[in-house]
Amino acid sequence: MSHNTFGHLFRVTTFGESHGPAIGCVVDGCPPGIPLVEADVQADLDRRKPGQSRFTTQRREDDRVRILSGVFQDERMAAQVTTGTPIALLIENTDQRSKDYADIRDKFRPGHADLTYEAKYGVRDYRGGGRSSARETASRVAAGAVARKVIAGVRVRGALVQMGPHGIDRANWDWDEIARNPFFCPDAKAAAFFADYLDGLRKAGSSAGAIIELVAEGAPAGWGAPIYGKLDSEIAAALMSINAVKAVEIGDGFGAAELTGEANADEMRAGNGDGPSFLSNHAGGILGGISSGQPIVARFAVKPTSSILAPRRTVTKAGEETEIVTKGRHDPCVGIRAVPVGEAMLACALADAFLRHRGQVGEERRP
Ligand SMILES: Cc1cc2nc3c(=O)[nH]c(=O)nc-3n(C[C@H](O)[C@H](O)[C@H](O)COP(=O)(O)O)c2cc1C
Repeated sequence: MSHNTFGHLFRVTTFGESHGPAIGCVVDGCPPGIPLVEADVQADLDRRKPGQSRFTTQRREDDRVRILSGVFQDERMAAQVTTGTPIALLIENTDQRSKDYADIRDKFRPGHADLTYEAKYGVRDYRGGGRSSARETASRVAAGAVARKVIAGVRVRGALVQMGPHGIDRANWDWDEIARNPFFCPDAKAAAFFADYLDGLRKAGSSAGAIIELVAEGAPAGWGAPIYGKLDSEIAAALMSINAVKAVEIGDGFGAAELTGEANADEMRAGNGDGPSFLSNHAGGILGGISSGQPIVARFAVKPTSSILAPRRTVTKAGEETEIVTKGRHDPCVGIRAVPVGEAMLACALADAFLRHRGQVGEERRP
C-alpha cells in the first residue's frame, strides 16, 4: 500500500524523512560484477546537493553517501564490484533545524502535501514535510548513479530549458555550458538572464517554475514493451513521481498535436549497418513503447516553489482561516536541483527496461 518502490527488475526502495537521522535506498536486482564505489554515487549527489549557489536552498547538507551492502572486493580483485545482492545506500541528515517549522505545525502550507497527508494518515511530520520533502530525491539520485553503471553505454543528461515563462534559445545549446552555470542551463546567455530574474523573485519573496529536458543517448532499439509497459509510460511515471512535477512530455509531446502527419513522422534512410538513420526525432526515440535507437528525449515541468516569504491564505488543522509565511530555507526555483533528480529517474527507468529486455529476448537485435 505504501508505494516506496520503483522498478521491476532494477528495483529501488527509498526510505527516510527530511528531519529524521538519515535517508537512503535499497537497490535490488542490480546485476553482479559491476564496479561500484562510493565516489561513483557521490559525484551525482554533489550535483544535487543544496547550498551550492544563492539560487538553491541554504540548507547545508554534505550528502555523504555510504554503501552498506551489495558490494565486495578482496586482494585478488582489481575493483570493488556489485555482488547481485541488495545495495543499501545511506545518507545522513546533518542540517535539520526543526525550530524553523514550529510556527507552522498546525497550518496547512498551500502547495504542499500537509493537507493530504493529514487527510490520509491523520498524523504527519510537519518538520519540512517529512517523507513528502524533496530531501527524498537525494536517495533517487544515489540509486540513479547505480543505474547509470548498469547501462554504462547510455549517456543520460539533463538541462534546464525554461524558467518561469522564459525559454532558452535552442540555437545556443551547448552541453558543456551546463557545468559552468548554477542552473544546469545549456544556453549561457539565458543563464545570465536567469540569474537576474531569479534574484528579483527571491528578493520579492517569490519563486519560479521550470522545464527540464532529459536526453539519453546510446540506448539500442528494442528496450521497453508494448501496451501496458510502454517505455513512454514507464519514463513518464518515473518523472511524474518527482516532487513538484506537474507535466511530462516525450519527444515533441504536446507540440506534436500542432504538427501535420508529414512533419511529425520521423523519416528513415539506410544507415551505416547500425540500424536506419532517422531524419528527425519528433517521437523522442520511442515507437510503440519500444526504443528506436534514437536519443530518448523527455521533458518535465516543475511548479514554482510553494514555500515563499509572501504571505498566503490558508487554514489550520482546526479549520480556522489564517495566513502563512514560510521562513526556513527553500529553493527559489526547485527546477534547478530537479535536473540531476530527473536524470536519475530516467537512468533507473532505462536500467529497468534494459534488464527486462535482456530477460525476455536476450541479445540485442538490429532492425
Ligand atoms: C529538488 C527539489 C527541491 C525542492 N525543494 C523545495 C523547497 O525548498 N521548498 C518547497 O516549497 N518545495 C520544494 N520542492 C517541492 C516540494 O517537495 C513539493 O512541491 C511538495 O512536497 C508537494 O508535492 P507535489 O508538488 O509533488 O504535489 C522541491 C522539489 C524538488 C524536486
